[in-house]
Amino acid sequence: MQPHYGFAGFMGKRVHLGVTGSIAAYKALDLARALQQADCMVSATLTDAARRFVTPLSFEALGASPVYTGMFSETPDADTAFGHLEPGQAADAMVVAPASANTLARLAFGLADDMLSCQALAFPGPKIVAPAMNPRMWAAPATQRNWATLGELGYIRVAPECGSVACGETGTGRLAPVDEIFLAVLKALTPQDLAGRNVLVTLGPTREPWDAVRFWSNPSSGTMGACVAMAAWLRGADVTVVAGPTALTFPCDVAVVSVTTARQMFAACTDLWPSMDMACLTAAVADYRPVPFGETKFKKSTSAGAGITVEFETNPDILKTLGESKRPDQKLIGFAAETGNLREEAARKLESKHLDLIATNDIGKSGSGFGVATNEMYVLDAKGRREQWPQLPKTEVAWRLWDHLLLD
Ligand code: CTP
Repeated sequence: MQPHYGFAGFMGKRVHLGVTGSIAAYKALDLARALQQADCMVSATLTDAARRFVTPLSFEALGASPVYTGMFSETPDADTAFGHLEPGQAADAMVVAPASANTLARLAFGLADDMLSCQALAFPGPKIVAPAMNPRMWAAPATQRNWATLGELGYIRVAPECGSVACGETGTGRLAPVDEIFLAVLKALTPQDLAGRNVLVTLGPTREPWDAVRFWSNPSSGTMGACVAMAAWLRGADVTVVAGPTALTFPCDVAVVSVTTARQMFAACTDLWPSMDMACLTAAVADYRPVPFGETKFKKSTSAGAGITVEFETNPDILKTLGESKRPDQKLIGFAAETGNLREEAARKLESKHLDLIATNDIGKSGSGFGVATNEMYVLDAKGRREQWPQLPKTEVAWRLWDHLLLD
C-alpha cells in the first residue's frame, strides 16, 4: 500500500466484510488485513460459493470475528439465532468484496435467501460494493441494471477495472484494487467535515532544467503532501493536487495537475486559487533555477577540463503570492523545512506570507522530513496558537492539520 493510503486510528470502528464466489475472493483477505491495520475490527460472512475459494478459517486466523457462513451455520461461534441481524447492530460499515453477479442481483432486488443477503438487507449504515466477474457477465444488461439500482439504493459503488480476468478474457470485470476498496470503506467511516470544500495541495519537488539531461532539484518524495491531500479527501473535500515529479498515485476523483518546474507550479496554483476554499502548500519548491546552458547536453570539452560556474535566477514564491491575494473566506497553510530557528522562522513566514497556519519541521532530526514516514512538527496559527507535536506518522500529522485549521 502506498504510504499516503496507510491511515490508521479508526479504533472502535467495526467493518463487516461480505465475501462471495469469485476467484478474487482471496483478495478479501488483504482487505481484511488492511482494515485491521487501520485499527478497525472486522467481522465477515462467506457465502457458500465464497467457501469454494477461501475458507472461514483464513479470515478467523487473521482475527476476523465472528465469521458467519450459512444461515443455519455449522460454525459454533457465529451460530446465534440472530446472526443475520448482528452486523446491522454492531458494524459501522459493510463492504461486499468481491461481489459476484449473483450477489449484485440479490442485493439489488432485496432478496434475503442466505446469510449475506439478509445481513445486507438489515444493515442500516453505509454499504460498499465492489464487483468481480467475467467481462460479458458485467456488461450484461441485467447486471448493469442491478448496478444502477444499487446506486439508487445508496450503495457506495467501487466499479471493477479493465484488464485480463481469470478466464483468459480481457475487459471490465476485474475486482478494483484492494487499496481503492479500502479507501472507500475508510471514507464511509469518516465524518465528512470538509464536504463541499475545494482544497488545493501542492507536493513533491520541482525540477529546474539546466541542460538537456541535468536538473536542479531536492529529495522530496511528496509523501507529506499526499497524506494531506488524502486526509482532506477522506473528510469529503474536493481535492486538487498540483504535483511535482513523484511516483505517487491518487484515487480517480482527486484531480492531479502534474508539473515539473516551479514556474509551472506557480502558473497552475495561481490559476486554481480563486476557486479554492483552502490550500496547503507542502511542495519543496526550488527557490532558484539555474540559468539554462541550453537545449543540448553540456559536454566536458566545453570547459576544457576546468570547473564550471552555474548562475541561478529567482523563482516566484507561490505561497506568498497566494497569501497576498487571499480572500477572507479562504484559508492557507504553509510548510517549512528548517535546519534551525524553527519557531522564529515559523512566525516570520506565517506573517510575511499571510498564512492561517504554518507547520515546520527540523529536517536535521531523525524521523522528520524527507524520505521518512514520520514527521515532528511545530505548528503555529494566525491566532497565536502554537503546538509542538511529537513524532507522528505523516498520515496522522495530515489529519491533525485539518483538525487544527477547522478549530475556531
Ligand atoms: N514555497 C512556495 N514557493 C516557493 C518556495 C516555497 O510556495 N518558491 C512554499 C513551500 O511549499 C512551503 C513554504 O513556501 O509551503 C515554505 O518554503 P520555504 O522554502 O521554507 O520558504 P522560503 O520563503 O523559501 O524561506 P527560506 O529562506 O527558508 O528558503
